[in-house]
Amino acid sequence: MAVVERVLGLLREVPEVPDLGAGYLNLLGPADEPAPTVAQRAMQSAFLPQIYEKVWRPIGFNVAKGWPFGPDTAQENDLARRRLGLGRPGDLAKPAATVLDVACGPGNVTRALAAGTGEDGLVVGIDASVSMLRRAVEDTHDKHVGYVRGNARDLPFRDGVFDAVSCFGALYLFDDPWAAVDSMTRVLRPGGHLVILTTRAPRLPLAGQALTSASQLTGIRLFGHDEVAAALRARGFKGIRLRPYPLMQFVSAQLPAR
Ligand SMILES: C[S@@+](CC[C@H](N)C(=O)[O-])C[C@H]1O[C@@H](n2cnc3c(N)ncnc32)[C@H](O)[C@@H]1O
Repeated sequence: MAVVERVLGLLREVPEVPDLGAGYLNLLGPADEPAPTVAQRAMQSAFLPQIYEKVWRPIGFNVAKGWPFGPDTAQENDLARRRLGLGRPGDLAKPAATVLDVACGPGNVTRALAAGTGEDGLVVGIDASVSMLRRAVEDTHDKHVGYVRGNARDLPFRDGVFDAVSCFGALYLFDDPWAAVDSMTRVLRPGGHLVILTTRAPRLPLAGQALTSASQLTGIRLFGHDEVAAALRARGFKGIRLRPYPLMQFVSAQLPAR
């Protein structure tokens, strides 16, 4: 079955005439919604997707993860695949998992997760930005990856259809991150795995103040050390593991199997 049909099969409501003209399933209007913050405006620009994966992300994220002591992108991807119950790129047999990558941007994490799923697996990247998705489609040549334009706040998928859900480098941009976490929880099957990589407010008072001002200016939210883990605990997740970095945190958890 073609990837498009498999993605359509996961939807809560299938459009009568699916809009697939841009190479992804577009469930939002023709253009981006007005961006409420500086950071969100950057995500909609035509320029950022061109430098995002090779320049912006490695520099910004590696610094925030405490380079050279924190994990680089390859190590981060490796950890994500492990925590999501996926295989390693070189494995002969990999799980045929159905995976959702929330706020996939240009598809960098989506492709890394696809490298850990078998031929019968399906990895869906969802994002709201037209320019990010255009780049994701251009750079992805994998027949078990599909992209959707939709909002993380209210994911358009049926309950419990994903074995694994990731949300990297984006929770801090959402206007309502907890609605997005509710939505991710809803689409995950019992026993399914979730990983979130997001910001973490430093505990140093001076740095904390400077970053709080920067956060207010840009619209990038800084989460407290235990805030995300507590939100997952409150939603019934088990096996919560938190890896703190200087300005980021990697949180993984599993829904109880029924
Ligand atoms: C910094 S990129 C992250 C890309 C990738 N996940 C990574 O870890 O490198 C953040 C993405 O979040 C997307 N985004 C922000 N708010 C969103 C929302 N409400 N729904 C879906 N995507 C959203 C932006 O369009 C942008 O592509």
